[in-house]
Amino acid sequence: MLEKIEETAAFLRGKMHTNPQTAIILGTGLGNLANEITEKYEIRYQDIPNFPVSTVEGHNGKLIFGKLGNKDIMAMQGRFHYYEGYSMKEVTFPVRVMKELGIQTLFVSNASGSTNAEFEIGDLMIITDHINYFPEHPLRGKNLYGDRFPDMSEAYSKDLIKKALAIAKEKGIRVQQGVYLGTQGPTFETPSEYKLFHILGADAVGMSTVPEVIVANHAGIKCFGISIITDLGVEGKIVEVSHADVQKAADAAQPKMTTIMRELINRA
Ligand code: HPA
Repeated sequence: MLEKIEETAAFLRGKMHTNPQTAIILGTGLGNLANEITEKYEIRYQDIPNFPVSTVEGHNGKLIFGKLGNKDIMAMQGRFHYYEGYSMKEVTFPVRVMKELGIQTLFVSNASGSTNAEFEIGDLMIITDHINYFPEHPLRGKNLYGDRFPDMSEAYSKDLIKKALAIAKEKGIRVQQGVYLGTQGPTFETPSEYKLFHILGADAVGMSTVPEVIVANHAGIKCFGISIITDLGVEGKIVEVSHADVQKAADAAQPKMTTIMRELINRA
């Protein structure tokens, strides 16, 4: 595994024209941010040694190196979801490569269903913490580097959360804060499951992010995440939900998300 990580990093280092310390996983709601990256150099996942690419989503994915505002950045367009059948090692492989390349800060976005009655569709939720509800832990097995029992007391950087809240206030963007629970999917939740997750302490539930953030923390990479609330898992408000609904709500919230991320990356 370490050899693979090093091999992939060496391959990428040979292609890179910048020295990024900032990485972004362009999840739901951040597609447009890719258009703002300048001096771009793109590499398709299928052309990167050891990158997992067997599903349709993987095949459209690429790494983008370039500049965003005043920062050199590395961006992942397309992520690997556990529900697609990837192992946790595969889901988090790109984050391990990020560490090897010297990345210090990771920004992520996603879509989620709210279990908090205060939230509305289209709200942005700054992720203050997470609950790992996946059936497999990404760090299970041989410890490749760092602590065997990594600390997770500040999985999402308090400093970045503070800066993001200031930016939202400045720009007049309504934001929520809360706990994101990551579950395997691919089903959305039954009403009882949303209720369970709320009782467990979640404000929102989704199918990504937690594995990458765990591996980033283990690697000493600071994390920041925002979730777009695309549906409401709240008693009395639960309606049938489709991927198209999720996409529509996410597209509508995209400009707000892009503004906060762009500014935050500049100030981080
Ligand atoms: N549950 C899980 N994942 C999701 C949801 C949800 O309600 N909405 C968007 N992604």
